[in-house]
Amino acid sequence: MQEITLHNPLDMHLHLREGEMLKNIIDFTTSQFCGAVVMPNLTTPITTTKLALQYKQEILQNSKDKNFMPFIALYITDTLDEEELVLARNNGLKILKLYPKGATTNSQNGLDEILTPRTLKIFEIAQKLGFILSIHGESNGFCLDREYEFGKIFAKIAQTFPKLKIIIEHMSDYRSIDLLETYENIYATLTLHHITMTLDDILGAGLRPHHFCKPILKTPKDRDMLLNLALQAHPKVSFGSDSAPHLEKNKLKDNAPGGIFSAPMILCALADLFEKHGKLENLQAFVSDNAKQIYNITNLKSKEIKLQRKHAWIPTQIKLIQNNLIPLNNGTMVEWSPI
Ligand code: NCD
Ligand code: ZN
Repeated sequence: MQEITLHNPLDMHLHLREGEMLKNIIDFTTSQFCGAVVMPNLTTPITTTKLALQYKQEILQNSKDKNFMPFIALYITDTLDEEELVLARNNGLKILKLYPKGATTNSQNGLDEILTPRTLKIFEIAQKLGFILSIHGESNGFCLDREYEFGKIFAKIAQTFPKLKIIIEHMSDYRSIDLLETYENIYATLTLHHITMTLDDILGAGLRPHHFCKPILKTPKDRDMLLNLALQAHPKVSFGSDSAPHLEKNKLKDNAPGGIFSAPMILCALADLFEKHGKLENLQAFVSDNAKQIYNITNLKSKEIKLQRKHAWIPTQIKLIQNNLIPLNNGTMVEWSPI
């Protein structure tokens, strides 16, 4: 039977949540990946080093793989200062996450305005200390143009701080690709859903709330151009699932939150996708090597994930005490499965 081995797969954008939810979802990631960039938008956001270290403990306590490496991103708020940044860096944190206020789930503590003297100072210190700046780059304009409109802010930060590495998180608009080509210090993460789906998967037939996420899925052209970046494992992109679970009952109510729960079997789904396009040989770079380069990751404990070409099924639902989670492509078959 055909097999592939992936060395040290990394998920560079992941929501693990906390408490009950964390306990129920963490294995989906730790069974497939050796590490992940864990997002700080909890109900009490991770805005200090102390909270980040506590959260890291909670993750490791609940992880079967004790070598799993959670890279906790520190949430940028109006009160973040140099002292806290130095403390964070001294405690091994290296990623800052910028949310524009109101752009997505638990972003109320995010920044109202991005290019203020105060935040420019934060970026300057971040550059000096060697942080990576991950940005949820969306304006508050028309939903299909939000990422594009934010582009000028990416350009301005990249020009002003040429040594600061900036990540366009979950790139969703083909018009952002220009930024990768123009600025040496701009990179991106790509999700599975933005490279395989479009707005039609939310609105084209019946309404599919489980496919609603931020940034919103876009056009076939956006999908295809981003897919192409992934398939060629463009050196400036790495895989970040943006797996973002919400309880089914919340996804079905009015004013439902964005977020697609894609973690279950996602590496197998990626193998399917790359194989279908004759690019299986580029999967290793997309899910690991590029990220190691971009984020300067050198201290991973070696982990090999073997997949076999034998079909398996994505679970239809994950039952939690209070309610269910519905995974992306639930109940469908993937051609690859873990050994
Ligand atoms: C994420 C979440 O639910 O935390 N939602 C989403 O639609 N992607 C937050 C985010 O990454 O925007
Ligand atoms: Zn996210």
